[in-house]
Amino acid sequence: MLKIEKVNKNFGKLKILKDINLEVKKGDRVVIIGPSGSGKSTLLRCINYLNKPDSGKIYFNDEIINDKNIAIYRQKIGMVFQSFNLFNNLNVIENIILAPVKLGIYSFDEAKKKAIEYLKRIDLADKVSVYPSSLSGGQKQRVAIVRTLMMKPEIILFDEPTSALDPEMVKEVQELMIELANEGMTMVIVTHEVSFVKRVATKIVFMDEGKIILEGTYDEMINSENESVKLFLSNIK
Ligand SMILES: Nc1ncnc2c1ncn2[C@@H]1O[C@H](COP(=O)(O)OP(=O)(O)OP(=O)(O)O)[C@@H](O)[C@H]1O
Ligand SMILES: [Mg+2]
Repeated sequence: MLKIEKVNKNFGKLKILKDINLEVKKGDRVVIIGPSGSGKSTLLRCINYLNKPDSGKIYFNDEIINDKNIAIYRQKIGMVFQSFNLFNNLNVIENIILAPVKLGIYSFDEAKKKAIEYLKRIDLADKVSVYPSSLSGGQKQRVAIVRTLMMKPEIILFDEPTSALDPEMVKEVQELMIELANEGMTMVIVTHEVSFVKRVATKIVFMDEGKIILEGTYDEMINSENESVKLFLSNIK
């Protein structure tokens, strides 16, 4: 579904991504781990051209993503951020239906109906008309995930979706992500939550200093010779 081929990204003189190759197949849940500053967010942002790669190719269903067609791919490649990125001046349902209505994915009435279905599913049907400022962090993130789902994405990229949350809210967001995984959603997830990694990942990718150092299943990674990978994965919260 997604193929990243020899992607490089520099910020000024700093080489942030170095010859990254990665393949994500339909139904995969690829989890990217690695130290702070290793380029995990930059890699996710390159996938949908929030950061434009300096060189290399990114294929989505065998088509190369480029400047011209990126608008189409941004709908197919959803993204969920650590900081939710909801519009604070719009209420919950307005946040959810704005983009899909604008892009003609749903009519206004259909979008409202679908949004309410989703809000019921995440137990937030009573929050339709409230503004993000009166939601908890966990509620905001679940609304942000629903907003992404409304675009009918084929893959969702999650950049540390639970790291801004209080511990008691981490679980409700993770459970929603696990539900999506069980429904077959293809996902690329950056997270530090090791117990979640173990539950959800079909493949783990360890990045360090802009390179993919190692990739494999949880068992392959934990049994590898690489001390930093083992240290990371044994640090279960
Ligand atoms: N827009 C930017 N301009 C300049 N440098 C940047 C920019 N974005 C990221 N960087 C640098 O690129 C490097 C990788 O950043 P990135 O955010 O991808 O790391 P990360 O692995 O996601 O780290 P963390 O775990 O802390 O989120 C860092 O050194 C960062 O300072
Ligand atoms: Mg990051």
